Amino acid sequence: MTDQDRVKIFDTTLRDGEQSPGCSMNLGEKLRIGQALADLGVDIIEAGFPAASPGDFEAVEALAETIRGPVICGLARCNTGDIEATARAIKGAEKSRIHVFVATSAIHREHKLQMAKEEIIRSAVEGVRLARSFCDDVEFSPEDASRTEPEYLAEVVAAAIEAGATTINIPDTVGYTVPGEFLELFRFLKSGVTGIDDVTLSVHCHDDLGMAVANSLAAVEGGARQVECTINGIGERAGNCSLEELVMALRTRESYFGLSCGVKSERLYPTCRLVSTITGMPIPRNKAIIGGNAFAHESGIHQHGMLRNSATYEIMSPQDVGLNRSNLVLGKHSGRHAFRDRISELGFALDDVELNRAFAEFKKLADQKKEVFDSDIESIVLHAEIERPGPWSLADLRIASGKGAFASAALGLTHVDGRTVREAGVGDGPIDAAFQAIERATGVDVTLLDFEVRSVSVGEDAQGEVAVLVRFEDRDYRGHGISTDITEAGALAFLDVINRVVRARERNAIAAETTASRAAGSI
Ligand code: KIV
Ligand code: ZN
Repeated sequence: MTDQDRVKIFDTTLRDGEQSPGCSMNLGEKLRIGQALADLGVDIIEAGFPAASPGDFEAVEALAETIRGPVICGLARCNTGDIEATARAIKGAEKSRIHVFVATSAIHREHKLQMAKEEIIRSAVEGVRLARSFCDDVEFSPEDASRTEPEYLAEVVAAAIEAGATTINIPDTVGYTVPGEFLELFRFLKSGVTGIDDVTLSVHCHDDLGMAVANSLAAVEGGARQVECTINGIGERAGNCSLEELVMALRTRESYFGLSCGVKSERLYPTCRLVSTITGMPIPRNKAIIGGNAFAHESGIHQHGMLRNSATYEIMSPQDVGLNRSNLVLGKHSGRHAFRDRISELGFALDDVELNRAFAEFKKLADQKKEVFDSDIESIVLHAEIERPGPWSLADLRIASGKGAFASAALGLTHVDGRTVREAGVGDGPIDAAFQAIERATGVDVTLLDFEVRSVSVGEDAQGEVAVLVRFEDRDYRGHGISTDITEAGALAFLDVINRVVRARERNAIAAETTASRAAGSI
């Protein structure tokens, strides 16, 4: 296989994906996703934007030091501070990359940067040169490329290549282009820019018009050999090109594209579920590849065809994307062995500590519900894999409610410092009452924006998973909780989100203190 037959997968879940409202992740969560991406077989992980905040810097540095296999990349604007910070953050990586960008379209030149065309070229060249002085692998992106005059875009790209860029990425920053137009742009750059055949040509699409995957595939047809994407398509506004859709399009239509990539497709489903659980962004049932309905056949005619030959209505098999579901049901008499085997068949790998935690949860659940299905096990595993750093946890919860009366909640919350706070709340319903009590106990008041409940498996005793989205001081936070008791699942989700707010407030206080000490000259 030559380089030209292979498409590199550049994952930006931890950078552009994290820019999705309410999707910010803590360090432990980023490391967990980074390892899952390495196990999935992506070529490059964009770990963050080190100059954006101390938390971003710390995350890129930790991923660079820990994750082995993929190239670890950090994003930087074309200025000395950003590039030096990125070089420091990626220092510990086995393989590293600096990704520099500057906007090139007329609208960004005039209204955002107030820079002339020549100044932007100078900035790009200086940025690439400085990045090359730290790292041999440098990617350059002309932001808003799809709305940039093509002749000028070609000039910027040629200058970046001459300055030493090894990858040229063409972003459709606002999801504006359409496949035919983008294909032409790539053909134009491929045929007209000096040195373009000596670098990797890359594409980065947003999904504002729902065409991010289609536009990325058009770019591949036009010569792109790196695609930038995110798990579940999360990202700014409507999101980015979805990794699982792009990978399965290349694989399922290999005879058309004649290209392959290094992603292990059977790891897609567990990875997508992990990202959904960590970010609290549910996967829509009708989502291509990994949605709950992606392999469900409702119509009688379809079911009949499927029974004869699955190829009648399925272009991929569930196993291809890691959906190794079975009708096997575990219960309270199932042992550790059966549990561990089922976990690995479902595509998860747990270390001993995680397995013990998950098995204890499984036993608790098996006591509460007769039959434990694959989807229950998946939820247990995903929740066991994610460490919940607190500081608050739910000690107990009592609810009283009835038709035509206010509901009341009484609960105890334990703080990591050892104290337990007891509070009560009254509300329109049990969930509202529990939320009021949690706000009182923690002293954190948030605005609830969204509340979603879904059933994890089937049956009257099925577990419920709750996802909440709240706003606190102009920032959105997501949280989730799971339980056979829906009010408890709601309380756990709300507490998860309050913990995220508390931790963010502590991080901001530390950052403000550091800045103040620096300004006072004591650091
Ligand atoms: O959408 C965009 O233009 C970006 C760049 C930084 C590549 O995310
Ligand atoms: Zn982007």
